[in-house]
Order: sequence, then C-alpha cells, then structure tokens
Amino acid sequence: MTNYKPIPIYDSLEWDLTTEACHTLLLAPSGAGKTIFLSYLSAMLLKRGHELYIIDAKNSSFGATFRSTGIYTASSAEEILCLLTSLVEQMEHDYETLYSTDQVGLDTNFSDLNLPAHVLIFDEVLSALESGDKKQKAEMERLLKLLALKGRLAGYVIVLTSQRLLATDLPKAVTEQCQTRYVMGSNISEELFHIGTGAYKKDLASSYLGDVGKGYAVTPKLGLSYFEAPYMKYKSNDFRQLIYLFQRSGMSDGKSD
Ligand SMILES: Nc1ncnc2c1ncn2[C@@H]1O[C@H](COP(=O)(O)OP(=O)(O)OP(=O)(O)O)[C@@H](O)[C@H]1O
Ligand SMILES: [Mg+2]
Repeated sequence: MTNYKPIPIYDSLEWDLTTEACHTLLLAPSGAGKTIFLSYLSAMLLKRGHELYIIDAKNSSFGATFRSTGIYTASSAEEILCLLTSLVEQMEHDYETLYSTDQVGLDTNFSDLNLPAHVLIFDEVLSALESGDKKQKAEMERLLKLLALKGRLAGYVIVLTSQRLLATDLPKAVTEQCQTRYVMGSNISEELFHIGTGAYKKDLASSYLGDVGKGYAVTPKLGLSYFEAPYMKYKSNDFRQLIYLFQRSGMSDGKSD
C-alpha cells in the first residue's frame, strides 16, 4: 500500500507528488543545506512506500548512506546513464501497458492505479552533466528531458539540486517542468534568486531572510513564500536505521506523516 498524502515542508507548503508541481528544482550554494533537505524528502518518500533512486554525482556520504541501505544509488557517469535509461524504459513500459487500456482516462495518474511514484533525487545535477564526455552529457540531458516532460502522470518525478544555474546549463524543457522551486542560502546572487524564483530580492515584502536551511519556495499553489527546510541528518546511524525501517515497513497506514 502506498500513501499519497503530501509531504509537509513548512507551514502550508507541501510536496504533492500527484500534482503538476511534482518536479522540483532546488538551488543553493555550497553548504546551504541542499543535501540535508534531500535526506528529509528521501526518508518521507520511503515512509510513504514510494520507489526512490539517488544520483549523488559528488560521491558523498549522502549517496553512501542510501547505497548501504539498498537504495539504487548512481555516482559515475556510466551509473547515472544506466539509471536514467532504465527509468525512462520503465516509464515507457508503464505507459504502454498500464495506461493504454480503455478504463484509463486521459488524466488518470499513478495514484488512481494504486502505484508508487518513482522519484529520482538528483543531487548536484550540473556536476553530473560535467562528469561525462560530450556524448554522455547529451544523453543524460535527453533522458532527463523525457522524464520531466512525460513522467508526471505515471509518477516518474525528478528532484534536481544545483549550486548555480545559467540559462544554458540545463535544457529549458527540464527547468520549466520543475514547477516547485526552492532557493536557499544567505549569499544568493540577485541572478540566482531570479532564475530560481522569477522574482527579485528587492520585491520581497520583508528583507531577504535566506540562510542555511532557509530560503524561498515557488509553487503554483502558493506563489513565492518564505520557507525553512526540515532538518534530517543523513550521516547519523539513526538515519540509516530509519531508512532501513521505512523501506521494510512502508509505514503506509495513512495515520502518520
Ligand atoms: N535546515 C537546516 N538547519 C540547520 N542547519 C542546517 C540545515 N541544513 C543544513 N544545515 C547545516 O549545514 C551543513 C551543510 O548542509 P548540506 O551538506 O546539506 O549542504 P549542501 O548545500 O548540500 O552543501 P554542499 O554543496 O557542500 O553539498 C550541515 O552539515 C548542517 O550542519
Ligand atoms: Mg550537498
């Protein structure tokens, strides 16, 4: 049993995998709390019984933690391509088999069919793209684009993080599909803030409040709002045990967050 209850983030901000806002982009400089935030999201996904895949291009303890609990984790360019290819193939297969019958309407999604989401947590997406040769980079971009454009109904969801983002760094189709955006950190340039949120710091109702684990979110539902990222320490043994437990139990009674 899968639990489709949105994942709470901050105040009324939540992550609902079944909406058009499922794909997510998180922009923050080094040390601003990206990986800690991803750890929370990852744990909550497993708790709800969804399928989780991790790309940790920096080959850090984040990936190591999840790998050690049996979650598919890719780090090298070859592993990343392998994972992206298999996710796209699985998605195409799902559409051909599960979504092409007469009973399935045009807007039927994975939750209507009681299927889990397949969520790709992609930490440091630009490091990953740069880790491969030209051909590998182009292929990674192509596969990521397919997931971004076609994944939503079948529950293939992407979460990307980056320390920076220029217009040419990622295909426009990918960034445009990420309708949930987060910008975190104290020293965010006007440019990064604008690329992330579409707004300017000077237009904020109060002074800029970004810091470690703090920043601004943009969603179709709430527009631009201040948020604080939930804290979950992925390096601890407790975290590993929690992941292990969630994986096995699925905790899908729907009673708890
Ligand atoms: N929500 C938070 N509240 C308080 N402190 C936090 C929070 N998130 C992160 N930190 C602190 O900041 C440190 C860096 O966090 P994290 O590793 O997640 O940053 P990052 O953006 O992934 O950095 P890097 O670019 O080095 O990967 C953590 O070790 C933790 O001490
Ligand atoms: Mg990190």
